[in-house]
Amino acid sequence: MAPASVRITGWGMYAPERVLTNADLEKLVDTSDEWIRSRTGIRERRVAAPHESTATLAAVAGKRAIAVAGLAPDDIDLILVATLTPDYWMPSTAALVKEAIGNRTAAAMDVMAACSGFVYAYATADSFVRSGMYRNVLVCGAELLTRFLDFSDRNTCILFGDGAGAVVVSASDEPGGGMGGLELTTDPDGAYMIWLPSGGSRSPVSGETVRRGEHFIRMEGRETYRFATKTLATSALKAIERAGWTLEEIDLVIPHQANIRIIESVAKGLGMSMDKMFVNVDRYGNTSAASVGIALAEAVDSGRIKVGDRIVFVAFGAGFTSGAVALEWTADPLNGRRAASVEPVASVRAPLDWDSVDPMPPRLMAALESGPPVPLDDVVPGEPEHAHVS
Ligand code: ACO
Repeated sequence: MAPASVRITGWGMYAPERVLTNADLEKLVDTSDEWIRSRTGIRERRVAAPHESTATLAAVAGKRAIAVAGLAPDDIDLILVATLTPDYWMPSTAALVKEAIGNRTAAAMDVMAACSGFVYAYATADSFVRSGMYRNVLVCGAELLTRFLDFSDRNTCILFGDGAGAVVVSASDEPGGGMGGLELTTDPDGAYMIWLPSGGSRSPVSGETVRRGEHFIRMEGRETYRFATKTLATSALKAIERAGWTLEEIDLVIPHQANIRIIESVAKGLGMSMDKMFVNVDRYGNTSAASVGIALAEAVDSGRIKVGDRIVFVAFGAGFTSGAVALEWTADPLNGRRAASVEPVASVRAPLDWDSVDPMPPRLMAALESGPPVPLDDVVPGEPEHAHVS
């Protein structure tokens, strides 16, 4: 039976402990802290440890979201993982997350819409619950981008970081609240503006594709920037209008954290001040499909969102894709405290007859293992302190 409303009941995030600063990147490529900060707003990003994978990052964020919702893992009917950096091409990362969170009953699948993935997955979850098919859907956005970057390419390696964000989307017997308006777009003209050439059916991995570096993310930065600044404000506005709301009624916008200048242009395009834009790109860089989920969890837990607030998620990414959701917040922000009961660990069973190679990019490890200690500023609430690099 269709529910009276569909609401976010749980939220959570996980950021790996290890920090990669702009100073660390100066050791790898011809760049500077000043250039990165002024062009992107990024000061540091996180790097997953060798024992972590996209599925384990998603599982920690997911377990936190389930705890915040006051549910048990088996209450989840469907697990959606938005990612462009899956553990494997097959099986889905969502199948591995199901095992890692201890769920025995849910269906599970991945959603691929690059950095718009969280918004696409959230819209998918809302539809399944709204139709009456499922009561509780776990949506994870998780990325381990540092294993898909060329740490000799200054155009890309300075931008991205690792992490995961999650929400539980639930059926409610009370009317009102939840998603009011949605806009999703895909523009294939941008298909090769951000892409990863090899590994798919068009170009299977071979010694030659590796020699050409085609297993790394490639990007036309200026074209992507142009698409983002052209599209984000329009997508947000369409979602707001579909909800029947005005811009003045919006309390907070949670934009994809790609670049502070892009976020400023969204604010300008919407005629909103920057205090209505949630920003944490300085601490995590671009975590792709994880970014909106991480930002949402931090926004709620830091008191930026209260019951009755009207908020907007808006994202863009490879494809080109874009997506925006206008929603009314209904959950008690204090429930976020329940996430503290979840340890920041998760594990996925390894295959019996296969050993993976060391997953850490050698150039990245060399940079992390040399140089002065990382300063202990801006520690994220609820997360371990920054790692000391000795
Ligand atoms: N350090 C120093 N100089 C650099 C660096 C660097 N890390 N990177 C580029 N430069 C140089 C360029 O070579 C160029 O030099 P030139 O003028 O001699 O050729 C100069 O800086 C300016 O380069 P631009 O590309 O014009 O710099 P711009 O101001 O556009 O900033 C950036 C580049 C930050 C990449 C910007 O274009 C951007 O943010 N684009 C959007 C990227 C994005 O959000 N991607 C994620 C999409 S989401 C997804 O689905 C994955």
